[in-house]
Amino acid sequence: MNGPYDQAFSQSIKDPEGFWGKEAEQIHWYKKWDKVLDDSNKPFYRWFKGGVVNTCYNAVDRHVEAGHGDRVAVIYDSPVTSTVRKYTYSDLRDQVARFAGVLRKQGVGKGDRVIVYMPMVPEALIAMLACARIGAVHSVVFGGFASNELAVRINDAKPKVIVTASCGIEVNRVIPYKPLLDGAIALSDSKPSSTIILQRPQSKAELKPGFDLDWEAEMATATPAECVPVEATDPLYILYTSGTTGQPKGVVRDNGGHLVALKWTMKNIYDIEPGEVFWAASDVGWVVGHSYIVYAPLINGSTTVFYEGKPVGTPDAGAFWRVIEQHGVKALFTAPTAFRAIKREDPNALLMKKYDLSRFKILFLAGERTDPDTLEWAEKALNRPVIDHWWQTETGWAIAANCMGLERLPVKPGSPTKPAPGWNVVVLDEACREAPRGKIGSICVKLPLPPGSLPTLYNNDDRYVQSYLTEFPGHYATADAGYMDEDGYVYIMARTDDVINVAGHRLSTGGMEEVLARHPDVAECAVVGVADSFKGQLPVGFIVLKAGVTRSNEEIVQDVVRMVREQIGAVAAFKQAVVVDRLPKTRSGKILRGTMQKIADDEPWKMPATIDDPAILDEIKVALEGIGYGHLRPA
Ligand code: COA
Ligand code: AMP
Repeated sequence: MNGPYDQAFSQSIKDPEGFWGKEAEQIHWYKKWDKVLDDSNKPFYRWFKGGVVNTCYNAVDRHVEAGHGDRVAVIYDSPVTSTVRKYTYSDLRDQVARFAGVLRKQGVGKGDRVIVYMPMVPEALIAMLACARIGAVHSVVFGGFASNELAVRINDAKPKVIVTASCGIEVNRVIPYKPLLDGAIALSDSKPSSTIILQRPQSKAELKPGFDLDWEAEMATATPAECVPVEATDPLYILYTSGTTGQPKGVVRDNGGHLVALKWTMKNIYDIEPGEVFWAASDVGWVVGHSYIVYAPLINGSTTVFYEGKPVGTPDAGAFWRVIEQHGVKALFTAPTAFRAIKREDPNALLMKKYDLSRFKILFLAGERTDPDTLEWAEKALNRPVIDHWWQTETGWAIAANCMGLERLPVKPGSPTKPAPGWNVVVLDEACREAPRGKIGSICVKLPLPPGSLPTLYNNDDRYVQSYLTEFPGHYATADAGYMDEDGYVYIMARTDDVINVAGHRLSTGGMEEVLARHPDVAECAVVGVADSFKGQLPVGFIVLKAGVTRSNEEIVQDVVRMVREQIGAVAAFKQAVVVDRLPKTRSGKILRGTMQKIADDEPWKMPATIDDPAILDEIKVALEGIGYGHLRPA
């Protein structure tokens, strides 16, 4: 006890203002805060109220002014286009300032929203930082989402401008973005006043004069814009994430708290110094991309790798090792599913041996549970620490982690280690009492949340309070279930809501059900996430047809599979659905999704006392067996 981790953790909980106030000294402020933590409007806590700051200045200009303009800020490595391009901090400042000028010319100012719908090109990072520079609020939409998902986000964020690229490049195909964007704009009630399109040679877009502007042409004539001071509590970005319904939650991130928290994590969690190379192999469309491809490494003055490729197939399962060697990566952060993909193709890690990994020190995993098999394989193959850590879009950074730069704690397989400083994690039972050690409950965080976590949902304080703060008063409900062991290690076991995790992508089964329900022949439906040894979970649909439907079950299944791909996106990996006569329900009409999932996963389950008709579960079992799942095994 009382090593550096314990000391930091206990100070952060006992004296959050002292702890974070000291860390805030690392950041450049135009004006210091009036109060480190303002709790005058509970449950809406605000960090660094009264402070005036600029995130882009801290991430870019500050390093140039400190004499590090020649240091590499971003390494764009794109095996899908055979490109490696480096941006020094000076290059980055110039490009970002210019693009900020482009946005300004389009009338974008402080508080205006800009949607960035882009593949993994560095222009996405430039667009994000350019928004931050002029106080505009970016909302990055993952490039794998289809028009409908984009439209929902346009309607909510009401962007003045949308920035996109002509295409994205997947392993097996080029995906034109313009038709997806046009489709989304047609579907949404809110219309942007212009779009800015990066033309890529792999598939150029046709531009509508006066509305679609060409990135390069605009950049060539732009007047660079300076950093605009904003309030610490002003929003930096909105990032939509899946909730229980098809209406995603617009997680808001502010400027001041985010800067302070992310800066702290780079050394203390990831053990990365300024000038060292950090690589988060994720996508800018996810929170990992926001925090650890773009903001944190740059705020820290480190070098970030911006990778447009996959762990396998671009060209092989040695891709990660090639990048690590070529760019001298010190720490890699990816999802366990990426390692399962590598393990599947190169089980003996032979490709790894081709590369010099001497500068590589730590592998960080997050986004889904790290199964002990994958952990063991990675540890053995790499012969380096493999660190699981747990967080969410809402929290912006790790709730539980082995803080490698603070104090390296022993790794326990299946656990992301202990709560990170700032996160007062408790496991609660249904009556909001602390569960005994070892007993599963709802994992919650005692308020206030630390800086960098969400202050609210965009334009929706009520949903914020309702979704996160109501079930367990005084606490933030993570919607993850799990337990803490005697040593205070946290174990994350499952979501308590209708969110599933497919290859590290967070998706809503409720959203998929809304798509299925739109099929004219579908009377009722349910989607559950079943276990998958590669992607973690996969969605499976159950559909009940309307009376008198004459088309075959196969045709209808094909329709719904296509509809989810078209309306949500291929990332949902919705490929399986079965037609059943009825769905299992409680007497009050609630569909027993949890029981269906357990049958599919061959987990022990209890016959629900309130079930309407137990015989339906036999029918579900038969249907699941028809597609290769499920055994009926009541506990
Ligand atoms: N734009 C368009 N389509 C996309 C896309 C994008 N940005 N990203 C994925 N897709 C498509 C894929 O092409 C694929 O289409 P298909 O059904 O025609 O094959 C589908 O969505 C599923 O893609 P993906 O989830 O990438 O699965 P995969 O089987 O192609 O690859 C992995 C598996 C493990 C290699 C991949 O999922 C991966 O790298 N996962 C890590 C995820 C991650 O980093 N998450 C962030 C948390 S840290
Ligand atoms: P996202 O908001 O997309 O980052 O997804 C967050 C969810 O992913 C969490 O609520 C968890 O359910 C899951 N998750 C993320 N990291 C981990 C981890 N290290 N262990 C277990 N589950 C995780």
